[in-house]
Amino acid sequence: MTEAESGSSAEPGEQLRTLVIIPTYNERENLPLILQRLRTAVPEADVLVVDDSSPDGTGTLADKIAAEDSHVEVLHRDQKAGLGAAYVAGFRHGLAAGYQVLVEMDADGSHAPEQLPRLLTALDHADLVLGSRWVTGGQVLNWPRSRRLLSRGGNLYTRLALGIDLHDATGGYRAYRRSVLQTIDLSAIASEGYCFQVDLAWRAVQAGFRVIEVPITFAERVRGESKMSGDIVREALLRVTEWGAAHRLAQLKRLVTRR
Ligand code: GDD
Ligand code: MN
Repeated sequence: MTEAESGSSAEPGEQLRTLVIIPTYNERENLPLILQRLRTAVPEADVLVVDDSSPDGTGTLADKIAAEDSHVEVLHRDQKAGLGAAYVAGFRHGLAAGYQVLVEMDADGSHAPEQLPRLLTALDHADLVLGSRWVTGGQVLNWPRSRRLLSRGGNLYTRLALGIDLHDATGGYRAYRRSVLQTIDLSAIASEGYCFQVDLAWRAVQAGFRVIEVPITFAERVRGESKMSGDIVREALLRVTEWGAAHRLAQLKRLVTRR
């Protein structure tokens, strides 16, 4: 692997080629503003919109914006196949194009582009930076109590089940060095919904990468609808339980065989 491939060649503070991946499903009302904010906040970064053939025409709108801005690109997928699949497609695209840093960001304005420089700076001393709502300085604005409880509960369960020291492994605002995504077997990622986030954080920790959290302010969307569903929650619970059980079993085996 060359230094450029591993993404470790840059000195702290040096600009790394960065691709911000924004998955969209029915985000017509949100996309123009988020792209405008992002292009202003981090003008040197490129953007890849990954649209799953949104019925509301988000993909066509994204194409129009991309036609006028060489920093914006669109990846069209035929059907809504979940957040995980959309990101994996975006990562493959970004890796193939040689980007050194790949960022995840929601389209609905919940992740402030103005906070991205903070995540990118933290990447000087890490391989994966998680934007975290549940560390000191992090916060959530305008979430109903039920959603707060779900996120806090989900994160507590994840910490306990996997034994990891992360406070927001379910969050979707993060920056990866390309080495992380090159090392993880992307074809093995089966998580469809939002537990994809835990899946990747967990794989990065297990592979020995430096994963750190920086506080973010997550603001609930003002326009459009969340795609969060009962199925997504059930998938996450089931998978985290499976990963935790497999991890504990492996620990136990090592203990028994005294390795
Ligand atoms: N292409 C594609 N395909 N995009 C999708 C899909 C899909 O199947 N499902 C959701 N998205 C896009 C949305 O359009 C939005 O840009 C982003 O993914 C996040 O979706 P939301 O539906 O707004 O998520 P949320 O606000 O409920 O959840 C947020 O918090 C979760 C943890 O609490 C996100 O940041 C999640 O990533 C995170 O896991
Ligand atoms: Mn949202």
